[in-house]
Amino acid sequence: MSRKILVTSALPYANGSIHLGHLVEYIQTDIWVRFQKMQGHECHYVCADDTHGTPIMLRAEKEGITPEALIEKVHKEHSDDFADFLVEFDNYHSTNSEENRELACGIYKALKANNKIAMNTIEQFFDPVKAMFLPDRFIKGECPKCHAKDQYGDSCEVCGATYNPTELINPYSAVSGAAPVRKETEHYFFKLSECESFLKEWTRSGTLQNEAANKMGEWFASGLSDWDISRDAPYFGFEIPDAPGKYFYVWLDAPIGYMASFKNLCEKKGLDFDEYWKRDSTTELYHFIGKDILYFHALFWPATLEYSGYRKPTQIFAHGFLTVNGEKMSKSRGTFITARSYLDHVKNPEYLRYYYAAKLNGSMEDIDLNLEDFVARVNSDLVGKYINIASRTAGFISKRFDGKLHGVTNHPVIQELKNAAPEIAKCYENRDYSRALREIMRLADQANADVATAAPWVTAKQEGQEAEAALLLDCSGALEMFRLLTIYLKPALPELAKNIEAFLNVPPLTWNSVNNSFVTGHTINEYKHLITRLDPKFIETMTEANKENLQATPQPTSITKAEAMNDESNYISIDDFTKVDLRIARIVEANHVEGAEKLLQLTLDIGEEKPRNVFAGIKSAYDPATLVGRLTVMVANLAPRKMKFGMSEGMVLAASDERGGPFILSPDSGAEAGMRVK
Ligand code: 2FM
Ligand code: ZN
Repeated sequence: MSRKILVTSALPYANGSIHLGHLVEYIQTDIWVRFQKMQGHECHYVCADDTHGTPIMLRAEKEGITPEALIEKVHKEHSDDFADFLVEFDNYHSTNSEENRELACGIYKALKANNKIAMNTIEQFFDPVKAMFLPDRFIKGECPKCHAKDQYGDSCEVCGATYNPTELINPYSAVSGAAPVRKETEHYFFKLSECESFLKEWTRSGTLQNEAANKMGEWFASGLSDWDISRDAPYFGFEIPDAPGKYFYVWLDAPIGYMASFKNLCEKKGLDFDEYWKRDSTTELYHFIGKDILYFHALFWPATLEYSGYRKPTQIFAHGFLTVNGEKMSKSRGTFITARSYLDHVKNPEYLRYYYAAKLNGSMEDIDLNLEDFVARVNSDLVGKYINIASRTAGFISKRFDGKLHGVTNHPVIQELKNAAPEIAKCYENRDYSRALREIMRLADQANADVATAAPWVTAKQEGQEAEAALLLDCSGALEMFRLLTIYLKPALPELAKNIEAFLNVPPLTWNSVNNSFVTGHTINEYKHLITRLDPKFIETMTEANKENLQATPQPTSITKAEAMNDESNYISIDDFTKVDLRIARIVEANHVEGAEKLLQLTLDIGEEKPRNVFAGIKSAYDPATLVGRLTVMVANLAPRKMKFGMSEGMVLAASDERGGPFILSPDSGAEAGMRVK
């Protein structure tokens, strides 16, 4: 029976590039959707850019463009990346769309009418320089537990403690550097605490993987708190109806973006939106997500839908994180690889699609991209096993039989291949692609063994009609096996399958094509090279290039502290040190420099009559407007340097390494412009 299915992947934030970690999810979902479509089901796959929130607002400001211009630019970049990885959305929309505004406002009003919205006064950190409330991630300070400096407002990266930003010692705004003040503000809350019995029921209805259901159990045990769904201006998002200056928190309208993207698709294609979203819908709805956003999708989202009159998801499919060579993706190791960088170096997206498929099993476990194994696996499975079947047999059909096949019946290996269809389909349906591919490769081994036994290259040299007939049957049989394997691999390797369909001269293969066979006289096209071996040097150049990108920015010397201590030449005398005139400087003016990629022009007051003019390579990290008024540290007796843009009369100190930066230094409170640093 044909099913009606709506599928989503998580909406990527519009402030960063798609990387190999993201692609685990999009490739996982795309394979599932392609499989459903091959089954003949009506399946719609929608996604969108997640465009709202403070980080996007601030990034646009830093780039000197409007948030709208930023999200438009990123939308194009993301769309190209997905298309080039053969991730085929039926619609790729934006959360900053009219459909989303209408749906979000409608849902909010319904929640309010259902008495699920409360208003509370809360106290939050406020940046007096930027005149904005600060999200936790934008407040930094000293960890209240281990006293590590410069920790984020929600958790400490050194000792792992989690806390409220109000507990930070000496907090400062990561936006302006100013000391934040506490200020009261009224916020809107979704009363999640009242949704517990509904959510418990929903969790029991088979909507979650076991690991996810267990996680829910932990959350229920610790109690559900009401959810703050509003943010104060300035904020890039949708203003809340009848609440001027208050905006929906990005996570309120992000999942509604799934609906909005589908609505936009309905408008384009004449589909019935309500059929898919009404409370008693008989269609199916699946969300593919990463395990880190389970809370939003398994608690907030179904509760939001329930109390605003919509249907709930049929299932939530959470996956684990990606590691590369067994470790977290890392810029210093060159394993933080963007989608674009992979394409630039490795070129073929299907290698990665195949490898991820070979690793994915429908659980929430992390998956590892081992780069050596990646090369070995792609070459041995795709080139050595699969394509090999056609490359060893197709030439004889073209050269000796004018491209015409002979129908093959009663062949045990072909029969075994056909019999495997339901089991392979079950694996795809359960997202256990690794098992599906293991089975497919086992069958490819059988096909290869059959070709090896028949040895058409030997028969081809024999004379007589019998040999001729055997050659035709053996090669036709091998190509029938190849056709069947192509059906099974098509969800993961759609482009290759398309090229093979052209070569075999068959219409687009569906799952039902398993039941067909080549008939005598079917003409295939000449075999042309279908795939190249993956050369390990591409992997090397890719990781090297990703390391290089990083080294283009100033790096600290790479000697370790221990090495430095053992080498006297690394010491300087106190006299050497006192030669450096370090001074507290007040930034009185900061400007972009026309034509300069990295520099900002700073006017610095160091207590002298004439302020200093300094060009500092900090443009990538600072909006000049946020620097004005700040105190920093400069080298005041560096010989003036004539630069393309003017004279630079000193140097501002800033920290940076692979973890980030540059971060300019700030003195403790009480310091004044002109003070000497000793
Ligand atoms: O975690 C993220 O990257 C979010 N942008 C995902 C949003 S998914 C959905 F809810 F919109
Ligand atoms: Zn700590």
